Amino acid sequence: MKPTHVLACLAAFLFGLELSHVNIGSVLHVQDFPAPSLGLVGPFAPNEILKDNVHILFKYKINGSETTNVEDGGQSLLLIDKYAEAWHAYSSEDDDSNYSLADKPFANLGAARPLGFMKDAHGNVIVCDTNQGLVSLEPDGRVVLLASRVSASSPIDPDSYIQFANNLDISQSAEGTIFFTDSVQLPAAVEHAPGERPYFEPMSTVMDTLVTGSKTGRLLAFYPQNGTVHVLAKGFWFANGVALSGDESFVAVAETAGFRIHRFWLKGPKAGTMDILIERLPGFVDNMVRAADGSFWVALPAPRTMQAYLLKSKILRALLRYVSPIQLRAAPWGAIMKVSPDGEVLRFLMDTKGSRVSSITDVQEHKLADGRTRLFMGSLLQPYVSCIDIQDDAR
Ligand SMILES: *[C@@H]1O[C@H](CO)[C@@H](O)[C@H](O)[C@H]1NC(C)=O
Ligand SMILES: *[C@@H]1O[C@H](CO)[C@@H](O)[C@H](O)[C@H]1NC(C)=O
Ligand SMILES: *[C@@H]1O[C@H](CO)[C@@H](O)[C@H](O)[C@H]1NC(C)=O
Repeated sequence: MKPTHVLACLAAFLFGLELSHVNIGSVLHVQDFPAPSLGLVGPFAPNEILKDNVHILFKYKINGSETTNVEDGGQSLLLIDKYAEAWHAYSSEDDDSNYSLADKPFANLGAARPLGFMKDAHGNVIVCDTNQGLVSLEPDGRVVLLASRVSASSPIDPDSYIQFANNLDISQSAEGTIFFTDSVQLPAAVEHAPGERPYFEPMSTVMDTLVTGSKTGRLLAFYPQNGTVHVLAKGFWFANGVALSGDESFVAVAETAGFRIHRFWLKGPKAGTMDILIERLPGFVDNMVRAADGSFWVALPAPRTMQAYLLKSKILRALLRYVSPIQLRAAPWGAIMKVSPDGEVLRFLMDTKGSRVSSITDVQEHKLADGRTRLFMGSLLQPYVSCIDIQDDAR
């Protein structure tokens, strides 16, 4: 055995990888992270609320819409799929839970991989595109590039490229400042899946971030009045979801591989500093969205297994990196949570094995006339989006 094979065996052992039918030295095909998630205790007690109540929408018609937006009081939905095509879906007049997808997309964003998107006060859809940066889809259908690099006047990382724009929130104030994340300073790779239309596949960049331990994620602000982009904070291990608090005193930033959410303070005595909203989450953290009651909905697309946790170790990362190509794939599960602005977990909904819904990357809230709450869930990886109606008395 060559030393690299010994290392491969050691890495495989430590990571609990499936070694049967594997020819060491070529590719190790890994079925799943085999262990269950850590931290499924207390407010994170396992349940099947999502599995039992979820509705799957537009299967194989909407592939990889990382985010959804609810428009016109729930009458319509906005979706942007992995081919960068923007779609509307409308609910039927007699049944507001029956959504049908338009016959064709209403816009195409070109060579883009759209992740988070959100309408601004002027009706522009502001899109985080992993390829170009911050893009605006205007009401007349034009696509305008707002920012692809950080301004020279930024106190941190002036004049640097925006590599991987991911998620955003827009201030309700007159300035309409757009807060967004740049996940990692590694480029997103294009993937040509056989028999399918080509699209930009961000997952290999996510895996590279895990295996290289690249803590280069950043929180940025775009000021629409003067077009300036400033870096507010950096050093996140994959910066992801962004959401302003109700009073806009802080902006919450999800750190995917750190299993935690930070607060970057905008106002008050702590302005300009960061602290932790919540940590040791049971899953990788993706998008965050402000709820009507001032708390946040958070998507947890994959579990925090022991193996995922071990990625913290530099030595183990080096093993994976240099002994690769080991292909990591997260176990399927569906999970979302609601957390208060002080870090109290208010709701936790799961499909523990991902048997009906998995890889949820975003949660949008819509209040129904009967007092219940409808949640729409996007997915970066799945060929569908989903929704669930819940009684949300948590606050
Ligand atoms: C979505 O992906 C499936 C294959 O997984 C493919 O058959 C289908 O045509 C795709 N849908 C669109 C709208 O491209
Ligand atoms: C949903 O609405 C569409 C068109 O509005 C209709 O054709 C379809 O029958 C409806 N489905 C159900 C389950 O009501
Ligand atoms: C743009 O506006 C922001 C917010 O008001 C300000 O902080 C920044 O300095 C301005 N930049 C320039 C170049 O004027």
